[in-house]
Amino acid sequence: MPVHVPVMTAEVLTLLRPERGGFFVDCTAGLGGHMRALLQAGADRQLGIDRDAEALAMARERLAPWGDRVEFVHADYRDIAGVLEARGIREIDGALADLGVSSLQLESERGFSFQRDEPLDMRMDRGAKLTAAEAVNTLSERELADVIYRYGEERHSRRVARRIVEARARRPVRTTFELAAIVRRAVPRGRQRIDPATRTFQALRIWVNRELDHLDRFLRDVAERLKAGGRMVVISFHSLEDRVVKQTFRALERGPVAMRILTKKPLRPQGAEVSANPRARSARLRAAERVPVSGMAAPSGSF
Ligand SMILES: C[S@@+](CC[C@H](N)C(=O)[O-])C[C@H]1O[C@@H](n2cnc3c(N)ncnc32)[C@H](O)[C@@H]1O
Repeated sequence: MPVHVPVMTAEVLTLLRPERGGFFVDCTAGLGGHMRALLQAGADRQLGIDRDAEALAMARERLAPWGDRVEFVHADYRDIAGVLEARGIREIDGALADLGVSSLQLESERGFSFQRDEPLDMRMDRGAKLTAAEAVNTLSERELADVIYRYGEERHSRRVARRIVEARARRPVRTTFELAAIVRRAVPRGRQRIDPATRTFQALRIWVNRELDHLDRFLRDVAERLKAGGRMVVISFHSLEDRVVKQTFRALERGPVAMRILTKKPLRPQGAEVSANPRARSARLRAAERVPVSGMAAPSGSF
């Protein structure tokens, strides 16, 4: 079974306070690593949502010892309101969203990484319609440039899009190595440390999985279902996602749901964690609490 080491677990536990018991929702259950940590630390019950059916099957197996204290749902977290309603769950004590790609997905030959030559797929949910290959071979040059600029923050997006369109006119672009080679030819390497293909791959992954669509709505839906004093923790892995989380939390703090931000600045993983788990490197964690009815927020566990 592939190992996925959950990131920033200590911070998640400090903030969600499972030792007080309660019902938690892991909106991105993955392989169930955070869920297991929460259960071990005292959570009474948990619902795990993920749109990757393979990941869920593994999480289910790993958490079998907790029996009916855990339930899994194959769904998009954007549908959380419906998922909870269908189970008659009106209030939750805490929620977690760990928005990155799981190690299972990175190793699944679905083309998430250009370190290996794999088909350009990038779907987290294998039942979803569009793959990265379809995007690369069918979007117009303009659309491709927009996607790469918007979701990859790639300054040379137009050049990359042009090179892709030129290459696919000769033959369809099918693999990660083919695409990475096209991007590297289009983007001057300069003094940057990261591979020039990184931003284009990120852009395509975000587009294929619609990672930023309705993220704000989802966060609001979670906030509305937290009990007074209940908390939500969101871990993001790129600045576009983190920006949406920051802005939505700020809007919630001012809005009718009455949330209090617990992390003035996003928390970053400790150096030791990054050395042990390089996937943690770009993690940023933000947390917010639903203000208790009295208006006096509990002071414990904030950063
Ligand atoms: C970094 S992994 C989570 C790992 C998990 N915390 C653990 O400890 O094993 C992120 C997971 O979020 C899932 N995911 C991403 N976007 C999703 C969405 N919109 N709805 C449901 N699951 C999603 C991915 O399929 C992936 O399994």
